[in-house]
Amino acid sequence: MMNPLPFSLKGKRAVVTGGLGLLGSAISKALAQSGASVTALDYTDKNWEKYKKQASDNNWAMTFECFDITDTDNLDSRLEDLEETGGNIDIWVNAAYPRTTDWAKYSQALNTASWQQNVDMHLSSYCLWSEFIAARMATHGGGAIVNVASIYGIVAPDPELYANLDMSTPSAYSAIKGGIIAHTKHLAARYGRQGVRVNAVSPGGITNQQPAIFADRYNAKTMLGRMANAEEISWPIVFLCSEGANYITGANLVIDGGLTAL
Ligand SMILES: NC(=O)c1ccc[n+]([C@@H]2O[C@H](COP(=O)([O-])OP(=O)(O)OC[C@H]3O[C@@H](n4cnc5c(N)ncnc54)[C@H](O)[C@@H]3O)[C@@H](O)[C@H]2O)c1
Repeated sequence: MMNPLPFSLKGKRAVVTGGLGLLGSAISKALAQSGASVTALDYTDKNWEKYKKQASDNNWAMTFECFDITDTDNLDSRLEDLEETGGNIDIWVNAAYPRTTDWAKYSQALNTASWQQNVDMHLSSYCLWSEFIAARMATHGGGAIVNVASIYGIVAPDPELYANLDMSTPSAYSAIKGGIIAHTKHLAARYGRQGVRVNAVSPGGITNQQPAIFADRYNAKTMLGRMANAEEISWPIVFLCSEGANYITGANLVIDGGLTAL
């Protein structure tokens, strides 16, 4: 029987990797506002005091754990630890953004080691944690996984956006995000009949103090004439995690103000 309020996450336990980041914090908050009990995993505790206060002021169930997703040893026992302390995980959102310090600085002279390191830190971590949590969810009746990909997993960054600016989107990012979208579908196909839904979202650019010239160029490429804010990415993710999306799996929901449809 379907929940009479199919978008409510009451009684669900959610985990968000990168849960204190720009997008991860908005996702954590939206999931908690929808009734889920949320654990934000992040490798630093920056901003936690601020979010903790906001959660307690609003009666949202939110906790934080220091957690490095690039540490891919003993995945199953670390998930077991998370479940022992907070209960079975119904919702897992991959929203961390691990990257090397030279990220986005090597588009002209490709650094092979850095390229490989970023693919491993980001693509492999997303895929491996998804693999292990899907297997656990299958043993306790199902769940929902959402991977945060990007429009750059489906289309190339327009070089005109970056012309004469000290900014780039590395080619590794396209390989990583395209890989995450493909792996999302692979996992969805394997676990669908065990009640585990696996979806991706592909956000476009989110407003975050980009240079005005970049924002102007970017805005002109979207149907809505502007970049997104983090909340506008978080609510579609809540939807994918809810029973309202019970028949959606293996999908890649594009949240880009129409950029890729033009
Ligand atoms: N910001 C955008 O415009 C945008 C657009 C499309 C997609 N995305 C995607 O959204 C996701 C989140 O990006 P963001 O903009 O919120 O980035 P962000 O840097 O603001 O947040 C990422 C969070 O991940 C955490 N993190 C980094 N390495 C980690 C690790 N090894 N283990 C655990 N946590 C770790 C960081 O501490 C940070 O809190 C990424 O997958 C990114 O590719 C972002």
